[in-house]
Amino acid sequence: MIKALITGGCGFIGTNLIRYVLSTYSDWRVVNLDLLTYAGNIENTQGLEEAYPGRYTFVRGDIADAGLIDDLFDRQRFDIVLNLAAESHVDRSIEDPSVFLRTNVLGTQILLDAALKYKVERLVQISTDEVYGSLGKHGQFTEDMNLAPNSPYSASKASADLLIRAYVKTYGLDAVITRCSNNYGPYQFPEKLIPLMVLNAYEDKELPVYGDGKNIRDWIYVGDHCRGIIMVAQSGVGGEIYNMGGDTQMENIEIVRMILDYIHKPHSLIKFVKDRPGHDFRYAMDYSKIETELGWCPAVKFEEGIEATIKWYLENKRWWEAVRTGEYMNYYERMYGGR
Ligand code: NAD
Ligand code: DAU
Repeated sequence: MIKALITGGCGFIGTNLIRYVLSTYSDWRVVNLDLLTYAGNIENTQGLEEAYPGRYTFVRGDIADAGLIDDLFDRQRFDIVLNLAAESHVDRSIEDPSVFLRTNVLGTQILLDAALKYKVERLVQISTDEVYGSLGKHGQFTEDMNLAPNSPYSASKASADLLIRAYVKTYGLDAVITRCSNNYGPYQFPEKLIPLMVLNAYEDKELPVYGDGKNIRDWIYVGDHCRGIIMVAQSGVGGEIYNMGGDTQMENIEIVRMILDYIHKPHSLIKFVKDRPGHDFRYAMDYSKIETELGWCPAVKFEEGIEATIKWYLENKRWWEAVRTGEYMNYYERMYGGR
């Protein structure tokens, strides 16, 4: 059996990853450590203990709590650690960077110390394309590019990546970094572009598009990202970095119009609002390294993935009603009220 710690397993990608691992690899046992912040939902993983007896355990806790982490690693003796726990929303990081530094930087360092002390065979850090900064009209991000983060969120992720590098070089830790572009799919918290626009369209609310809507993201279906993470965990080379992308560069406004058309709602719901400060213009990933070395490439076409995703939100009203708690409603008012 492979004993894996997956942190942040009640968030968007973590939920999809745990479900993928348990259903695909019968020799993996998963401990999910999640603090259950506003973005983490225990219901996402409900029923997994029963569906996979002896192979799934949930622990509520903070990756930045050194005592808890030491105790957990001591008791569990993990073979592998996949770190997805993070504060992940750029707009929130602009409001208050401090929790981003605590979780994304200090939390990662605490995990690295524990991985060293308890001789974990491999740690995979789930990073992001945002560490490279912003592209102009041409080109793609490659793994050897300089880091040039532009938001407190991406600066915290870049800092964690540099810590990983230091632990590999200085202490000989076996760690690998994945950097992926914008994910979409089921279980994504409705503060992010695609679910936010689906729910607002469904409820006939305004769709707040930042600036002129011409910023470009490279969208990837979350299942493709999860498959890549496990390939890197199993076959990646220690100390290396692997980019993943979806081959789907789209302007935000195109996606928003597509969502409105799919739900049969008028484009007049679109409202162009004040731009995000420091808004990165474009992301695009060159994933030829992971393709050549590990045989990974994205499989889900955007048209199929977005349709399945919109359907999922429309069919899971109870899920999104439950995650849109008082905290989220206050955030929404602060972020969009009078914008
Ligand atoms: P998310 O915000 O949906 O989930 C984050 C999870 O981490 C939540 O369940 C939350 O409760 C948990 N968490 C937060 N702080 C914690 C702490 N201190 N200790 C333990 N758990 C904590 O995020 P996501 O979109 O699923 O992203 C997961 C990871 O993937 C992040 O590291 C993010 O930077 C990275 N990533 C995301 C994307 C994307 O498009 N969503 C793309 C590339 C990389
Ligand atoms: O690229 C990977 C990153 O993708 C991850 O590392 C982050 O965790 C994840 O949140 C995501 O970051 P983005 O900032 O690209 O995603 P977001 O969904 O917040 O925004 C996508 C684009 O849509 C961006 O150009 C800003 C724009 N936008 C977003 C919101 C929430 C709007 O125009 N209106 C909005 O209300």
